[in-house]
Amino acid sequence: MTTTTPPTPPAPVELTHHSHLTGVFAPQREEVDVADLTVRGEIPTDLNGSYLRNGPNPRFDPIGSFVYPLDGDGMVHRISIADGRVSYSNRFVRTPMVLAEEAAGHAIWSGITDGYTPSADEVGPELAGTFRELPDINIVRHGGRLMAMAESDQPYLLDPATLATLAKTDCDGAMRVGSTAHPKIDPATGEMVLFNYSLEAPYLTWSTVAADGHTISGPTPVDGVDESVMIHDMALTSRYVVLFVCPLIFDLEAAMTGGSLLTWRPETGTRIALIPRDGGPVRWVQTDPFWVWHFANAFDGPNPEDGVIVDYVEWSYPGGFADEPRPATSALTRAIIRPDGKINRNTLSDNAFNMEFPRVDDRLLTRDHRRVATVAKGPHDTGDADSLWFYDLGAGTETFWSPGTAIGEPIYIPGADRDHWGAIGTDPADMRSYFYLLAADDPTAGPVATVDLPIRVPAGLHGAWLADPS
Ligand SMILES: [Fe+2]
Repeated sequence: MTTTTPPTPPAPVELTHHSHLTGVFAPQREEVDVADLTVRGEIPTDLNGSYLRNGPNPRFDPIGSFVYPLDGDGMVHRISIADGRVSYSNRFVRTPMVLAEEAAGHAIWSGITDGYTPSADEVGPELAGTFRELPDINIVRHGGRLMAMAESDQPYLLDPATLATLAKTDCDGAMRVGSTAHPKIDPATGEMVLFNYSLEAPYLTWSTVAADGHTISGPTPVDGVDESVMIHDMALTSRYVVLFVCPLIFDLEAAMTGGSLLTWRPETGTRIALIPRDGGPVRWVQTDPFWVWHFANAFDGPNPEDGVIVDYVEWSYPGGFADEPRPATSALTRAIIRPDGKINRNTLSDNAFNMEFPRVDDRLLTRDHRRVATVAKGPHDTGDADSLWFYDLGAGTETFWSPGTAIGEPIYIPGADRDHWGAIGTDPADMRSYFYLLAADDPTAGPVATVDLPIRVPAGLHGAWLADPS
């Protein structure tokens, strides 16, 4: 009789050597609900809603490896505003992996790039051989669902009242094969449009979900993609789904033989798919190689032959996610892309260092916008993101505001009287976290209100403002 010895779990990650597990990125393990937070300045009384944000936050100290921002469990933070008062709650996104680790009291699953999976002896037959699920990138509300979004996977539904994790969802089939963490909601129709990339054919699909949450179409394969490509975000206009297929290719063969899972292949260039939302044939547009994490917005030109206008942060190179590390530069960029194959890419600004997370007023998605805000490291690389940058594309001006804290994604908060930008920052000196509210028409005047958050909120990824129903 022979017995099989289960593989030995990987060793703990050396936390102190990992910049994304220490300092302002250190995981937060407390879960709290605190009302009536201290506010300096004044919360406008016409703001009623919640600022939600998701981000990697390992439930237990990780084992094996930790690759930011791919690894980590999700933690959702909520700052609720009502009648000038502010409260805060936070909860882990409790996947089956988090629940099993909580029962064990330690990490069981290793980093996503390790290839290690736990045995049935450790986690039972249902979870044996699985990888950690990672709904830690974004939080999206649509069609009656509040969803903690993962990359190329199905999201988890959260209870909007308690933030408790409910269940994984395929969104009425639209996310049957998975979803980007960055679906786009068209304010004119209420439709949510999403794409998914896959390691297997069909490599790229897209879907549309109606405002009431039922699936209108998809997952529909995108013609013209015959290998697995990494695509993080998308753009949407009234006419088109716009997918930038940058040359970052999954190479499973290389990964199996100890090489990099992702390969940068600049000779392929960047290909852009204009996918008519009405189901017409895909138009492909070819341009130089570059990388995109995030789009600010996109909209149609005045006539169909004018194509689409897309604002995004263009990177010269995808940084550490490819097998040939070299410095990368970023710039706020506007591309005008025509269905006849012509494209013009113009730099709007390259003054901010490591610019990311471009956002607009979400009510203007698919339509022309004037204001864009991003987060960056200011004119110099100071380590953490330390400033918010504000662009008025109508006036052609740019300004920035540095709070003296490590600051995260700016989110547009419409008000009945005045609009604002909201962002969370953490002081690296004392690790206290704050929520800043800046007037959208004068953000560099400094916050109209600064809220003392009751616990440290780790530097994280994406969020949304969810207005209370009026
Ligand atoms: Fe993202």
